[in-house]
Amino acid sequence: MSTSKIPFLDLKAHHDPIRAEVMAAINEVVDKNAFAGGPYVTRFEEAYAAFCETKFCVGVGNGTDSLWFSLLALGIGPGDEVITVPMTFMATAEAITYAGAKPVFVDIDPRTFTIDVTQIEAAITPRTRAIMPVHLFGQCADMDPIMEIAARHKLVVIEDAAQAQGTLYKGRKAGSIGHAGSFSFYPGKNLGAWGEAGAVTTSDPALRERLVMFREHGQKKKYYHDVVGWNGRMDGIQGAVLSVKLKYLDQANAGRRRAAARYDALLAGIPGVLLPAEAAYGRSIYHVYALRVSNRDTLLQQLGERGIGCGIHYPVPVHLQNAYANLGYGRGRFPVSEACADSFLSLPMYPELTDAQINTVVHELKECLAPVA
Ligand SMILES: Cc1ncc(COP(=O)(O)O)c(C=O)c1O
Repeated sequence: MSTSKIPFLDLKAHHDPIRAEVMAAINEVVDKNAFAGGPYVTRFEEAYAAFCETKFCVGVGNGTDSLWFSLLALGIGPGDEVITVPMTFMATAEAITYAGAKPVFVDIDPRTFTIDVTQIEAAITPRTRAIMPVHLFGQCADMDPIMEIAARHKLVVIEDAAQAQGTLYKGRKAGSIGHAGSFSFYPGKNLGAWGEAGAVTTSDPALRERLVMFREHGQKKKYYHDVVGWNGRMDGIQGAVLSVKLKYLDQANAGRRRAAARYDALLAGIPGVLLPAEAAYGRSIYHVYALRVSNRDTLLQQLGERGIGCGIHYPVPVHLQNAYANLGYGRGRFPVSEACADSFLSLPMYPELTDAQINTVVHELKECLAPVA
């Protein structure tokens, strides 16, 4: 048995080279007592809006709040339906539920793992108000047909870009194409805070104003509340950390793309292994590198025993979660999402992954795949 230890994600390797710079930025926030919202959040919002090529960015507490606030600020609530995918993290659907609306699922495309645009129109009812495509694993959903369908049916589009900081779609940044783009900066994301954080991007000034008001208890002026809002601010420390880390995001995304290209080359042509495909329309940032294999659970265990940290994103599609039994979807309803949930295996992926580490992962994987003699 090999003694190799390759983690699924190595945040220490990512943070060590920039630790002093980030600590200096945190010290500044502490010196200025700028803990809740404030100038360090504003500075990050400006930089991130520029990065996403949107007019505005509104920093919030996490990527679940950013989805929820986007829905509320766009006027979506009880009686409304929002179309999304079941192959996503639970938060996508949770935010729809917490806005008072109902999630309506559409299966994913088996090549891109994002919403199957050919199935969207069949899911539209008179109650449909929004489409929430998810840019799963860092690959953009096919936004042109989504925006065209949305315009024809007078729907709004909220991009769940939690996994897509820097993803491109036909040269445009994820989060800049829909009416709102929702981002998570959970520590393991390509752009990760040192704690919880999220943001909404938009180029609509009225939407920005509603979002800002909502995250500040519905007030424009202190202690004067126009609507019932929430405490949804981003921490000043997270704004400062993210401003530093944003400078290195393109480099980090390039590191992940290099790692993905090496996996692609070394794993090509292995029978029974389906590699993730990059859509011709865009550029993925490989938040996750997920293969599809038939004996996934055994492989996951064997690779774990050999010191290779793998993951499953996600083992149970949202329509089959106990929490959503009330929606009445059963097994067999979204076959592509279900097949992916049973076969996805996420390999170690981070910008600092070395060629030698990738060789080891591939070597161990091939050994596990080889039939027992
Ligand atoms: C697709 C997707 N949507 C939403 C979220 C929620 O983000 P957060 O964990 O910051 O609340 C995540 C985070 O994992 C995600 O992957």
